Amino acid sequence: MICRAVVTGVGHYLPERIVPNSAFEDSLETTDAWIRSRSGIERRHFAAEGETTSDMATHAARAALADAGRDPQDVDAIVLATSTADLTFPSAATMVQANLGMTRGFAFDIQAVCAGFVYAMANANALIVSGQARRVLVIGAETFSKIMDWTDRSTCVLFGDGAGAVLLEAQDSAGTKDDRGILATDLNSDGNFRDLLYVDGGVATRTTGYLRMQGNQVFRHAVEKLAETAETALARAGLGADDVDWIVPHQANIRIIQGTARKMKLPMERVVVTVQDHGNTSAASIPLALSVGRDRGQIRPGDLIVTEAIGGGLAWGAVVLRW
Ligand code: UT7
Repeated sequence: MICRAVVTGVGHYLPERIVPNSAFEDSLETTDAWIRSRSGIERRHFAAEGETTSDMATHAARAALADAGRDPQDVDAIVLATSTADLTFPSAATMVQANLGMTRGFAFDIQAVCAGFVYAMANANALIVSGQARRVLVIGAETFSKIMDWTDRSTCVLFGDGAGAVLLEAQDSAGTKDDRGILATDLNSDGNFRDLLYVDGGVATRTTGYLRMQGNQVFRHAVEKLAETAETALARAGLGADDVDWIVPHQANIRIIQGTARKMKLPMERVVVTVQDHGNTSAASIPLALSVGRDRGQIRPGDLIVTEAIGGGLAWGAVVLRW
């Protein structure tokens, strides 16, 4: 018998305000047709004035706990993936902990930009299999609308706000590839590519800054690195692409999602796609897609899922889990 980290609940939150592509046509030299054809995005949600990452994360966490039939006091740890924490410190995770009324356990943020949720799942898995925690809330939450340069058409039309969460619980398992739970992970980064995607503010500048991206360069790295990390994680689990029921990719661009599936020789029928409705929500995109995919009836108990993501750093990785 070995210990596995099993998803026992999932949930998400999207802010009320939905902004269609056409909303950018007045202020920028862009069109709905360009945004759709180059990215697959049709609309995105933006947080309300004063609505923060920790607010959205709290909603998603409550939904995941309700789905699992658990109480906040049952949780040992909160791992929150975000690059848009409310404040420089303390962590948004500790704010969620307080919002949930938790008076025990520990909470911290993980910052790996769009790969954040994959990093958070790998770290939560390590906490569980090493016996340091039995129940971990893993959240991805972002308000990228707060770091957009609204005059830069090459970035501001691509991103959105939202949050998703899963509850991971320790369960004794046979130790085979048929087990439920996280079966393998693969994490990578290469700081030599830090200029391809970054925010030009922070403690060093005493400003919040704006997102800057060389989109076509990131695009080139994405398909290759995503297929490779997914295949590495699958091989580590003793599995191959044929075993996959659902790829649940980071939702940045439909052409990256299609290119990765093609490289893995998997049909788009086995890919959960939400980019048209959410835009790129960075670390929130995978848990949002897991929750929406479950609600749509796509993801079912026993399904083999591969999540993969790449973003600023560059940082990238994959998680293989059985739902
Ligand atoms: O989540 C983190 C990781 N991020 C990503 O995965 C994003 C990766 N990159 C992408 O998704 C794509 O590169 C973009 C959607 C950002 C851009 O698509 P592209 O096919 O790579 O276009 P491009 O950057 O090569 O630009 C093509 C043209 C340029 O014009 P010229 O130089 O050919 O005259 C841009 O100025 O499209 C122009 N352009 C726009 N035109 C209308 C850029 N943004 C816009 C816009 N509307 N919003």
